Amino acid sequence: MIVSLILIFLFSVTCIKNAFGMLPKSKQHQKPKTILPDYYVKEVRPPTFKGKPLEIDFSMTVVDINSINVEDMDFRMDMFLKQQWQDSRLRIPEEVFEYGDEYVTLPSQFFENLWQPDLYFLNSKVVEIATLTHKFSSVTLYRNKTVRYSARMHAIVACQMEFQYYPMDIQICPLSIESFSYDNSKMRLKWADAGVTVSPELKLLQYHIRQPLQLAEKDIYTNEKSGNFSRLVVYFRFERQIGHHLIQTFAPSTLVVVLSWFSFWLSLDAVPGRVTLLVTCLLTLVTMFTGLRTDIPPVAYVKALDLWMAFCIVFVFSALSEFVIVKVLDERYKACKKQEQAQILETTLTPWCSANAKIKKKPMRTSNCGLIKLYWKNKLGHETILWCEIDRYSRIIFPTLFLIFMLFYWPLLIFKSTIIF
Ligand SMILES: *[C@@H]1O[C@H](CO)[C@@H](O)[C@H](O)[C@H]1NC(C)=O
Ligand SMILES: *[C@@H]1O[C@H](CO)[C@@H](O)[C@H](O)[C@H]1NC(C)=O
Repeated sequence: MIVSLILIFLFSVTCIKNAFGMLPKSKQHQKPKTILPDYYVKEVRPPTFKGKPLEIDFSMTVVDINSINVEDMDFRMDMFLKQQWQDSRLRIPEEVFEYGDEYVTLPSQFFENLWQPDLYFLNSKVVEIATLTHKFSSVTLYRNKTVRYSARMHAIVACQMEFQYYPMDIQICPLSIESFSYDNSKMRLKWADAGVTVSPELKLLQYHIRQPLQLAEKDIYTNEKSGNFSRLVVYFRFERQIGHHLIQTFAPSTLVVVLSWFSFWLSLDAVPGRVTLLVTCLLTLVTMFTGLRTDIPPVAYVKALDLWMAFCIVFVFSALSEFVIVKVLDERYKACKKQEQAQILETTLTPWCSANAKIKKKPMRTSNCGLIKLYWKNKLGHETILWCEIDRYSRIIFPTLFLIFMLFYWPLLIFKSTIIF
């Protein structure tokens, strides 16, 4: 009897214990149920008035953009995302809101119980939600049954880059957002009023980011999903700052070209000096040109910078060619002079010599002094020498041509690079 009483007592104690132990668990389960009714199926899109597409407001704050990688044609982005939509099935009890509040913020775990829009970045290589001990995301419920999901993410976004106008290139990198499975009759994406904002502290190493960013809402027929999808696009416009290249490339190469012109003032007696100067200029430019190739991956087309360097090299090469021509003309001139003196000697001697000396004279003159007039007398009777004239004119022609080249190059480059988009 006593034994059975003890047994009953023990049994009832464990029952009560169990009941108390169960209590907090069942309460935990009940909590979302007060917000989510029994018929809530989280896999099903929230119903809308007359089956209209569900509107999703999307906004984004870009915190950081870094590693604009020309090699892989992508860049890395850190951002806050906000998506907002209305779920009319929610039954939010009054107790949930704190006094005077229009909304309640819930941790990201609660989001798992809700229907979620399946948005994705079309052209991203990697997307991750930032985490420390937990995911940086939260859900906010409003009294009017609006759900807002926010998260801090980082993404690596692919961008098709073009370098024709390098180093004054402008890269337009679109970022597209689309629903994966709901077409535009089921879901419509909209930029929220805030749209896309870029943190004002953001500084990029070589680029300047043009603000405000251009936003677009499109309906696009996608072949792979065979349907019309609502798509949001934000165009990031990166303008490369030329400052770095102005100091590193344009200024030194211009100086080298100017240096090569000094050779026109050096007399032909200083042959080693003139040759050294010109060849050094040429080698400097070629080395500079090769050094530039490490900045940017090899592309199949000609870049604006290549054109510049090519012209600089052509200018120095022309100066070197001019020197060779002048040197050859000088040799001929000297030979011609020598021959002429011999002739003068001969003509002064002819009256005393035999008549057949005259026959020798004619072919000699045409063969050595050549078809080109190597020297002539001007109006004042001074002798002008052809190679000296070439040098003299080069002093004007070379800088003029270079100036004309610059006058075409810079306006075209600046005009063309700003015309895109
Ligand atoms: C619901 O309320 C929030 C906050 O007041 C507001 O931002 C949102 O636009 C409202 N939604 C609708 C559909 O009125
Ligand atoms: C997509 O939209 C175009 C024009 O708006 C329409 O002609 C086409 O039938 C639509 N396609 C689908 C699959 O709804």
